Amino acid sequence: MVRRGGYIYPPGLRFNLPFYRFHRFFDPTNPILLFEHLRQFGRAAHYRILLHDVVLLNDPADIAEVLIDKAACFGKDRTQKRMKILLGEGLITSDGETHNRGRRIAAPAFHRRRIERYATQIVELAATLRTQWQPGTELNIATEMMRLSLQITARTLFDTEVTAEIHEINDQVNIVMDLYHFLVTLPRAELLLNTPLPQMRRFRAARKRLDEVVDGMIRARRAETNLDRHADLLSMLVAARDDQAGGDGHKLDAQQIRDQVLTLFLAGFETVANALAWTWLLLGQNPEAEARFHAELDSVLGGRLPTLEDMPRLEYTAMVLSESMRLYPPAWAMGREVLEDVSIGPYRFRKGTMVFFSQYIVQRDPKWFPDPERFCPERFTTAAKAGRPRFAYFPFGGGGRQCIGESFAWMEAILALATIAQRWRVELIPGQKIELQPKITLRPKNGIKVKVVPRERIQAMP
Ligand code: HEM
Repeated sequence: MVRRGGYIYPPGLRFNLPFYRFHRFFDPTNPILLFEHLRQFGRAAHYRILLHDVVLLNDPADIAEVLIDKAACFGKDRTQKRMKILLGEGLITSDGETHNRGRRIAAPAFHRRRIERYATQIVELAATLRTQWQPGTELNIATEMMRLSLQITARTLFDTEVTAEIHEINDQVNIVMDLYHFLVTLPRAELLLNTPLPQMRRFRAARKRLDEVVDGMIRARRAETNLDRHADLLSMLVAARDDQAGGDGHKLDAQQIRDQVLTLFLAGFETVANALAWTWLLLGQNPEAEARFHAELDSVLGGRLPTLEDMPRLEYTAMVLSESMRLYPPAWAMGREVLEDVSIGPYRFRKGTMVFFSQYIVQRDPKWFPDPERFCPERFTTAAKAGRPRFAYFPFGGGGRQCIGESFAWMEAILALATIAQRWRVELIPGQKIELQPKITLRPKNGIKVKVVPRERIQAMP
């Protein structure tokens, strides 16, 4: 432990981080290497970037203190604040009362009964995809899952009739996201944004076009008298009032709706797409688990398309997805900034310290998951789960800022995977190198190339 003027920090790197720029673990495109290097310090590790103290917490009890017991002492970290260049004051980027209000207003839209309406749409879109594949075709399953998840998110957020806009949104989102990943990692991105650099011009133009499309839809929706006609999240947000406990009847204005809608859109589609892509990889690598998964699909569904009511019985499917999100958590790390001096476990951190914890690191800790590299869905039986502390596994975060879309994500992932896997399995193209690309979400760097193969027993299905 390092004691400094009344503060207590864990051990860690002796020198300022930039000093290590020629070391293997210093790779700004892959911060997971640094976090893995820091595991040697055990429960927690400390380093400095210029004048900032940074701490990585690896212990579930310490993470629980940050996210739950002492959450009021923490705000979102600077990288996440920088997302404001795209997301404004949406749920992810806001803090304090703005965040609480946003959460109160959006919560009903994510109520379990509300989102259950989307089950049919999810299955419909996944079923369309499965009719488009041809036996033996080689494709990048990561791209396929991005496309599917984008369609699902756009349809459930904005309703089905806006197909032209969905394509436009798709294109603009792709342009924005490419540059955005780069921008949020820069310390002074806000300043760079308004320069005449060609990439910045492109970013501004795409963001403007995205805003126009989203604003157009919000305007049209606000002008409607019968919002119930659309069973989508946009209508919920347009109609929403802050009427819940602590609320003041406030309605969202156009800018606030835009920020929330775009946040939900971007938080929702890439995370689920990655979860699905990694799951196909793991199924392709683990024939035994794959066989058990297929057996469940066949016995529960018997050849018909899945429905919402099947979900509780698709237990092994959920276990496969849980284990996939353990090994490849789409949200691979989370960060907070200390707002006032605070004690966590045996440590005491000063205001301004950045605190990180990584799902990727903690969920591969052999203490909680023996033989951690091994894909083993049986780790997620009820009994096995009960034997671990709450934050040994936290793909959706926790506490007051736990993922608002978690139930939606589970429903989408289970139903989409079940629908496609009823008819298809994938064979990985040999010789490809699967590499991690930890951006805002954890992507496979070069995609995942597979050959799609019809499943024998049910080839006759549509
Ligand atoms: C597998 C899919 C998903 C994963 C792994 C995931 C993960 C997470 C995590 C870890 C957080 C907490 C971040 C933090 O506290 O710093 C979060 C927050 C959030 N997620 Fe998700 N998410 C997923 C899907 C979705 C979906 C489908 C939506 C919406 C449609 C969504 C919307 C949000 C929003 C709005 C927040 C911010 C909540 C707040 O700060 O109050 N997510 N998500």
